[in-house]
Amino acid sequence: MIRKLISEVPCIGTGNVILRKVTLAEKESLKKMTCNPHVYRYLPAFLYKKKYEDIEYVINHLYDEDSNDSFITGIYFKDDFCGLEEIYGFRDDDHKISIGYRLMEEYWGLGIATEALRLMTEYLFKNTDIELITASVLPENKASARVLEKNGFDLIEQNVPEDWGFDKPLPTDKWIKRLIYQKDDL
Ligand SMILES: CC(C)(COP(=O)(O)OP(=O)(O)OC[C@H]1O[C@@H](n2cnc3c(N)ncnc32)[C@H](O)[C@@H]1OP(=O)(O)O)[C@@H](O)C(=O)NCCC(=O)NCCS
Repeated sequence: MIRKLISEVPCIGTGNVILRKVTLAEKESLKKMTCNPHVYRYLPAFLYKKKYEDIEYVINHLYDEDSNDSFITGIYFKDDFCGLEEIYGFRDDDHKISIGYRLMEEYWGLGIATEALRLMTEYLFKNTDIELITASVLPENKASARVLEKNGFDLIEQNVPEDWGFDKPLPTDKWIKRLIYQKDDL
């Protein structure tokens, strides 16, 4: 389904932060990130396949044609792997998609997530017919809220119960960014 939107894994960005395909070279870093409870403190149980023990298996099947409706790119800082960005929940009729991101802890606080989000939103608005990008954030996750705010996302709903893959729904803040048409585009 999401393949309709993006058929090949793009390489996005030209500066210090780049989004591109995750390869087996990232195996140890990915393992380190997924084992860090600080990284997963505010994350759902189902995004990026933490449930599989074998990271090599996960990487090898990340870009299978028939994989679920999420699409993952690695986030690289000065050519080093530092995290993942994921788009999911593609709704073709509504031209809508959701986005999520996570970084290895040693890369926090450098502006990387802000730039990674900017790159992906810009890519989606310029190269696909996506018009609306949403993000779900737990209210305690102030750093993530700030990343969205810095990218021009608006907080539209607060404390909405949402399924994060745990025992019960969690109160969640919903953020959105809409494609703004410039006068010249019309
Ligand atoms: C959330 C996360 C992606 C942020 O990445 P990052 O690269 O450190 O973010 P940036 O440096 O681009 O921006 C962070 C902003 O939040 C601010 N911030 C950080 N911690 C904060 C806190 N506790 N309270 C308020 N603001 C905070 C920073 O000061 C910065 O804002 P500024 O540029 O105005 O100073 C990263 O911490 C992470 O991977 N966390 C674990 C996974 C996760 O929570 N993902 C998001 C799920 S919705």
